[in-house]
Amino acid sequence: MKSAVLVAVLALVASATAAATKGGVRLPEYFPTACARNAPDLNECIRKNMQFVMPLFAKGEKLFDMEPIEPIAVSDVRVQLRREPFDFHAVARNSKVYGASSVVVRAASAQLTDSSLDMALDIHIPTMFIEGDFKIEGKIGSFPFAGRGPWNVTITDLEANWHLMGETVDKEGEKYMQIKRFIPTYRVGGMKANAENLVEGAPELTNLAMNLINQYWEPVLTAMMPATRNELERHLKRMASSVFDSVPYKQLFPVA
Ligand SMILES: *[C@@H]1O[C@H](CO)[C@@H](O)[C@H](O)[C@H]1NC(C)=O
Repeated sequence: MKSAVLVAVLALVASATAAATKGGVRLPEYFPTACARNAPDLNECIRKNMQFVMPLFAKGEKLFDMEPIEPIAVSDVRVQLRREPFDFHAVARNSKVYGASSVVVRAASAQLTDSSLDMALDIHIPTMFIEGDFKIEGKIGSFPFAGRGPWNVTITDLEANWHLMGETVDKEGEKYMQIKRFIPTYRVGGMKANAENLVEGAPELTNLAMNLINQYWEPVLTAMMPATRNELERHLKRMASSVFDSVPYKQLFPVA
């Protein structure tokens, strides 16, 4: 009889404990210890944790409904370049972006309140490789051209600043951080593009055009950035949101 009471008491204690952690969700086993919102070394803690998890997100994370980031799959990106000697519009299809999981997180700086998040991450990606299909039409100088086929580009020494801003929302009595803005800015060290059939049926002109593009890669990249940025911003924001939407704010950033 006594032991039955004991079991009942234990069960009550156990369910009370379970109730106390209610709202806490299961995290991946590899997940590092959360950084306290008010920790004196908050910035360094965030930097270390980001550095730790990014390579592990390569295959995505089911617990967060996160898609793989190695590669990041990008659907259509439309670009237009009107800058001497180029005047063309192009669409890149089914692109795959490789390299995001080998990011080096150089610095983090965060202001976290009970209801808002403002975080900047300085990152470095040594090499990114992007491949996909393209369709292009336009002019180089006064020479009209059109082409389609596979393309790829290697980008070296990418430095980026990822700026995230969020506000808490209530979901079933629990506060979650909702990422409102994700603003990436980029600087690139070098770029080398490859495309076959850039000028349909004229391999020697394709070579000439590719050489021009690789020689003038900086203005080419600058011109392509606005279109690419939106697409990147969408993907990165979704990636960040998959964590923040799945895990209560106080579990991600507890108060010590
Ligand atoms: C990049 O594209 C070029 C031209 O289509 C192709 O010859 C080359 O094999 C590609 N590189 C890789 C690593 O896929």
